[in-house]
Amino acid sequence: MFQGRNFIKIQDFSQKEIEYLIDFAIHLKKLKQARIPHEYLKGQNIALLFDKTSTRTRASFVVAANDLGAKVEFLGPSDIQLGKKETVKDSAVVFGSMFDGIEYRVSSQSDVEEMAEFAGVPVWNGMTDLWHPMQMLADYMTLKEEFGKLVGLKLTYVGDGRNNVARSLLITGALLGVNVSIASPEELLPSEDVVEEALELASASGAVIEITTDAIKAVTNANAIYTDVWVSMGEESQFEERIRLLKPYQVNRALIEKASDHVIFMHCLPAFHDNKTTISQMTLTQYGLAEMEVTDEVFNGTWARQFPQAENRLHTAKAVMAATNGNLFIPTID
Ligand code: CP
Ligand code: NVA
Repeated sequence: MFQGRNFIKIQDFSQKEIEYLIDFAIHLKKLKQARIPHEYLKGQNIALLFDKTSTRTRASFVVAANDLGAKVEFLGPSDIQLGKKETVKDSAVVFGSMFDGIEYRVSSQSDVEEMAEFAGVPVWNGMTDLWHPMQMLADYMTLKEEFGKLVGLKLTYVGDGRNNVARSLLITGALLGVNVSIASPEELLPSEDVVEEALELASASGAVIEITTDAIKAVTNANAIYTDVWVSMGEESQFEERIRLLKPYQVNRALIEKASDHVIFMHCLPAFHDNKTTISQMTLTQYGLAEMEVTDEVFNGTWARQFPQAENRLHTAKAVMAATNGNLFIPTID
């Protein structure tokens, strides 16, 4: 049911299919832990195209492909002609004639779609300004591992409600029957088209969707509180405005204690939770802030699940590549 398909955005898949990919990733995690080989891509060559920086997406695809028996080639923006001397379409045809699968991180969603249209091999979205579907599999897998189920859980996202991660969490929760609350300042609430799409999916899954400017209301009874950077890649010129708007939406102890007794903290990473990175040092000093979207206390507290989330990027990348491009029979997962 997955063979030959692209993985471009979550809503191209059904609830059952996304649940399958999550369960398959949990299965592959067990195989990895038991050191049982799972070379579903043996002999293949995988291209990793990155127009933006990455730690998790790059590392997870490299290790996942290696574990699956494939070889990878990393192609960064200064390595290839794409984007300067050559179009997405021409590059897609060339890469598709040599590689068996292509991961692509780039700002524009339409570039990933064009790559998929002309490559003739599966294309996996490594994040655009609109969607981050690979992140979603890892996030909802982490929730399933924590709570043993997905339907009926409540995930609250606090922060920039318009960014790729917030949009993706909303759509994925709505598809999977997870209640999603988004708390953002008025200026950064999710756009109407995404909310409409989420409500449509939620009417089929039974999920409850809440969009509000009230962070305390949003976290009430939450099983997970999720945040992301206040300034996404490519938006650096908006630092000052974002800090002004989002300062009241920091995830800290006071906020997290308003949620349910068993609440976890989630973040896709990278995070500005202290002043130890070059950008955060500069930003924090400049704007008189001690921490940004999450306090160090929460980031290092018992609630924190951002590193299991990051690890799960490996297992979910593997699930997507094996399911859409595997050479071998893919098992049915109970
Ligand atoms: N979460 C995530 O996609 O991280 P990277 O930007 O490091 O790949
Ligand atoms: N919203 C962030 C996510 C990084 C994984 C960004 O686009 O930079």
